[in-house]
Amino acid sequence: MKTTVLQKLSRPEVFRLSDETHISRVHLRTPDLRRALDFYQRVIGFKVVERSKDEASLSATGSPPGFLAFTADRNAAPRRPRTTGLYHFAIRYPTRRDLANALRRIIAADRPIDGGSDHDFGYSIYLQDLDGNGVELYFDLPRSEWPIRNGLIVVHRNEPLDFDNFLGAAASDSISAHAAAGTDIGHLNLHVADLAEGEKFFGDFLGLEITAHLGPNGRFLAAGGYHHHVAINTWAGKTAAPENSVGLISYRFAVPDVRVLAELKERAHRFGYEAQTAGDVLQIRDPNGHWLEVETAGNSKPVGTSLSRPFAWG
Ligand SMILES: [Fe+2]
Repeated sequence: MKTTVLQKLSRPEVFRLSDETHISRVHLRTPDLRRALDFYQRVIGFKVVERSKDEASLSATGSPPGFLAFTADRNAAPRRPRTTGLYHFAIRYPTRRDLANALRRIIAADRPIDGGSDHDFGYSIYLQDLDGNGVELYFDLPRSEWPIRNGLIVVHRNEPLDFDNFLGAAASDSISAHAAAGTDIGHLNLHVADLAEGEKFFGDFLGLEITAHLGPNGRFLAAGGYHHHVAINTWAGKTAAPENSVGLISYRFAVPDVRVLAELKERAHRFGYEAQTAGDVLQIRDPNGHWLEVETAGNSKPVGTSLSRPFAWG
């Protein structure tokens, strides 16, 4: 049905990212690349896609694209508690059994677990990597089972995970050493200084929709009706971490249409956000000072290109 002029006037145009949008990469700064890679290979079960002296990327199978990238910086500032930036990034497993196997690997490696949750829309396990980055491992229940009311995800059940029961879903006799194919990064949770600023950046500018209100201090935002691609909260105060802090450098979204990059670049200027192009990747400075990157799906570069170029501006 054609939109009439009157409809356009009465309903200001809202920019939305398409349903196929997903997170394609998280990039972390580490003081010890060897140690970081050991953790993500041995404990999390990922495989190295590409590696140079100071840079590396990993994926579930070792096949490109690498969805978790590292840059080594021995002089990186230590993480400080109660600063804005990464709360956790979340590794999504294709099945409950795959998540249970991941839990068994963590237990076998004798790594501490911060907790686990039985949500209305899935199961989550929380831990920290060796640099203190928050890492969530999770599995989504089928969308048909998510509790949705008035277009919002109902987030009211947050029961502690029954670990013994949950482990029953894992293979009984042997622990798989590797994450399952199809494992990816499903969402990010960010501490922000100002919720309204966060909503403006991720909602009004980027085009994610608010999918849940977590009380007065937290929001879920997503494309395509997902429960959340980004969560924002003000739980850690307003202090920014040092620019070269251990942890998050950038996070990347993949969109299906290259025209979205041009539109976002123009929108960034209109909104007053710093934006630049690094090869085929658009980078926009988020309110925390990190790079939000946007690429077209399937755009991942061969070894070296995707890793080295955007770093030069970081
Ligand atoms: Fe999360």
